[in-house]
Amino acid sequence: MVPNRRSGSLPAAGVAPALLAWFAAHRRPLPWRRRPTPYRIWVAEVMLQQTRVAQAVPLFGRFVDRFPTVDALARASLDEVLRVWAGAGYYARARNLHAAARQVAATRGGTLPRTVEALQALPGVGPYIARAVASLAFGAPVVALEANGLRVGARWTLETGRLDAPSTRERIARALSLRLPADRAGAFNEAVMELGETVCRPVHPNCPDCPVAVFCRARQELPDPGSIPVRVHRPPRPIVRGAVVVLEDPDGRWLVQRRPPRGLLGGLWEFPGGKIEARETPESAARRELREETGLRAGRLRPRGVVRHQYSHFGVELHVFEGPLRGPPGRTAPERRWLRPDDLTTVAMPKATEKILAAVVGARGARPGSGSHPDRTTTSPPRASRPRRGRARARRTTA
Ligand code: ADE
Repeated sequence: MVPNRRSGSLPAAGVAPALLAWFAAHRRPLPWRRRPTPYRIWVAEVMLQQTRVAQAVPLFGRFVDRFPTVDALARASLDEVLRVWAGAGYYARARNLHAAARQVAATRGGTLPRTVEALQALPGVGPYIARAVASLAFGAPVVALEANGLRVGARWTLETGRLDAPSTRERIARALSLRLPADRAGAFNEAVMELGETVCRPVHPNCPDCPVAVFCRARQELPDPGSIPVRVHRPPRPIVRGAVVVLEDPDGRWLVQRRPPRGLLGGLWEFPGGKIEARETPESAARRELREETGLRAGRLRPRGVVRHQYSHFGVELHVFEGPLRGPPGRTAPERRWLRPDDLTTVAMPKATEKILAAVVGARGARPGSGSHPDRTTTSPPRASRPRRGRARARRTTA
């Protein structure tokens, strides 16, 4: 509980020089800080908005190796961009990066705009990313605050409002902009975020090691500076129960389908399946979904476990089945493919589908050569699973 004191004040005047001196000495050698071109800064900020630094580092490396410039990204297909992004979640970020790169390539010869307003006009660029890119890449004298920066600012100013309220965020941004060194805005913004990530942690801030503790009102005035920002108790996310079928044809190939380009997980490939309706068993739901989505039928279905996954507003509990195709393979369509298990690595999949794949491959691994198709005489053991790309973030969800 935060005692009732005057909140939302200006941070003390010496905060910026002390912070910048600390940052100069402790700044982590993150890959986007090497050769910090506007493009690399933009890509990094898009990634960092919903992905922790530890997970963003390998993703950033993969992404800029494959798409080193705006033009290279613009020339790539969306499918390839999604594949490189696979496993990082929040795929709308990748779709928007790609769309924005195409726009910048087509209308500006591949040069990113320099102002907050022009940046914000690009697909997927909101106020934070526009301000971060304008200050870090072009030296614009603007404050850019994401979740870490807002927490730091709230503690400096003893802000007792909820951070999800726009008025609170504006108050913090206004207070920090009054301490912003106009010629070092990019470094200041990065330093504030870095302090939040490494020292001014969410629950247990490491105040003894903080370079600006003497300027921090929460540290100076509260028994527990970690009690700011105030915690908001959210109701638990609802759980949706679903059933999924890994359907195998006589050649040992598995059926995957592509989701429509817009909306949740747009453009990604997954196994047929859907929600378990009231009074349905998981298996009957699996058969119904398969029939409704594809017109196909399965022989005996084997249960392959239950996969759980969290999205930002709900969780899913997916009952996984594996079984042989019964009857003809149906029409071919661009959004539907029969792929050998090894070739599944060539399409972009949601995280939950990667978990399903691992469950099926794991079950087969336990019984070598235990493919499900009765006609099948040979089984090439599928590769263990798609490459691991780090654990999902603790609080947040990945697609
Ligand atoms: N989080 C968001 N942007 C960041 C940056 N540029 N450096 C460190 N952490 C960040």
